[in-house]
Amino acid sequence: MKFIKVNNYEELSRTAANFISAQVIVKPNCVLGLATGSTPIGTYKQLIKWYQKGDIDFSNVISINLDEYIGLKGDNEQSYRYFMNTNFFNHINISKDNTFVPSGISEDFDKECEEYDKMIKSFGGIDLQLLGIGVDGHIGFNEPSDVFEKNTHVVTLHKSTIDANSRFFSSPEEVPTKAITMGMTSIMQAKKILLIANGKNKEEILNKALFGPITPKIPASLLQLHSDITVIYSEE
Ligand code: F6R
Repeated sequence: MKFIKVNNYEELSRTAANFISAQVIVKPNCVLGLATGSTPIGTYKQLIKWYQKGDIDFSNVISINLDEYIGLKGDNEQSYRYFMNTNFFNHINISKDNTFVPSGISEDFDKECEEYDKMIKSFGGIDLQLLGIGVDGHIGFNEPSDVFEKNTHVVTLHKSTIDANSRFFSSPEEVPTKAITMGMTSIMQAKKILLIANGKNKEEILNKALFGPITPKIPASLLQLHSDITVIYSEE
């Protein structure tokens, strides 16, 4: 594991963006696994700047997002599809047809989950997976549990996740209680993983996840077994 401690959020965002742009330059048709949340916003901003300067071309990139809230359509401002469009995809030359976010609306979520995994496999897996980490140790929405969930699945969000994410909603009651998330297999099969964490409140869980016992009670702890993982952390 490579652990990079940086001084502030700006440095974290620039370092993460460098990592992602290097991947896109080396393999222009790469598959990027992407995350939402507050941590990657600066990374996306930096990538947009470099795209606007002409330094990076996303026209052949495929992106696959980790998760989506159940019950929210893609045009809902709180949905992760909307987040990705407004914070990233609308500002770069990626083809929207090559951007995948699990659907929060489905008549048949078992089928939706199965198809998401098949789709990831059909692209040959993920080249570079960007991850944030929840204060309870979740990655994607793989919440602490008795087992590591292998495949894309529907999950009931834990109270700490709902509380943490309520900052994006007008009240905690509005936060959807369920989500659909990529499972641990697709994440662990990514060729490279880039985990970014920002803020003192992430320090304790980061320590437990990266240096403590590997347990499904802290889903991110499984990342210790990945052979090519880089972690970028800023305390600020
Ligand atoms: C979002 C996701 C989550 C977040 C995590 C941290 O797609 O997969 O695991 O990465 O909840 O969120 P922030 O960055 O808001 O602290």
